[in-house]
Amino acid sequence: MGGLPFIAGNWKMNKTVAEACDLVRELKVAIAGIEGVEVAIAPPFTALYAVHQELQGSAIHLAAQNLFWEGKGAYTGEVSPAMLKEAGCRYVIIGHSERRQFFGETDEMVNRRMKAALGLGLKPIFCIGETLREREEGKTFSVIERQVEGGLRDLGETEMKSVVVAYEPVWAIGTGKTATPQQAEEVHRFIRERIERIYSRQIAEEVRIQYGGSVTPENIKGLMDQRDIDGALVGGASLKSETFAKIVRFKEM
Ligand code: 13P
Repeated sequence: MGGLPFIAGNWKMNKTVAEACDLVRELKVAIAGIEGVEVAIAPPFTALYAVHQELQGSAIHLAAQNLFWEGKGAYTGEVSPAMLKEAGCRYVIIGHSERRQFFGETDEMVNRRMKAALGLGLKPIFCIGETLREREEGKTFSVIERQVEGGLRDLGETEMKSVVVAYEPVWAIGTGKTATPQQAEEVHRFIRERIERIYSRQIAEEVRIQYGGSVTPENIKGLMDQRDIDGALVGGASLKSETFAKIVRFKEM
């Protein structure tokens, strides 16, 4: 569903400025000429502007990994939407499970970040997903429902058209334990249904829902073959140009 497949690399807290620029130069070569798929990379804040410069003339889009909802002021350590825009970002990852787990991010905070991003024309990559415990207790769907409703609260139809959703089951992140295509598809379908309830059939069909969690060149094809999986948010495998390029080139497999 959801239009052009969208593969994004979340570099997390990896790569200095010099390392980031090296990786981008390799990536530009490795995925040169590829069509029919949108690609983005999310380096750490410190490398954004340098990577933006490296990306001039390339089809690869730039994403940030977080943002603060205030426009400016006395918020030591935070980065505003305008700063990210100026650094060249088109997308921003919001509500990643690592932020929820390690930095106490709540659905309400996620919602404030979503509004701030959209207000400045940044497209959110809105992350949701259940923990292993929640899955084992049979709470997957109720957790997803809460995250979807909380994160998207008060966003209008026009705003929703700029949102990308990323379903990342926490138990599959960095563990080498990917959700099976069927496990992922089941939740993706549920997310699409929730979005249809809140918005409309058309919005639900157009929204792109990425899968994230131990995506590799070996498992990407099976995931992308699912009806409701429109892309991937790739962590570890996005840190090497070779593996990321193979994932981006999933259609050639
Ligand atoms: P891994 O691909 O390393 O499991 O990370 C997934 C992720 O968290 C992407 O945002």
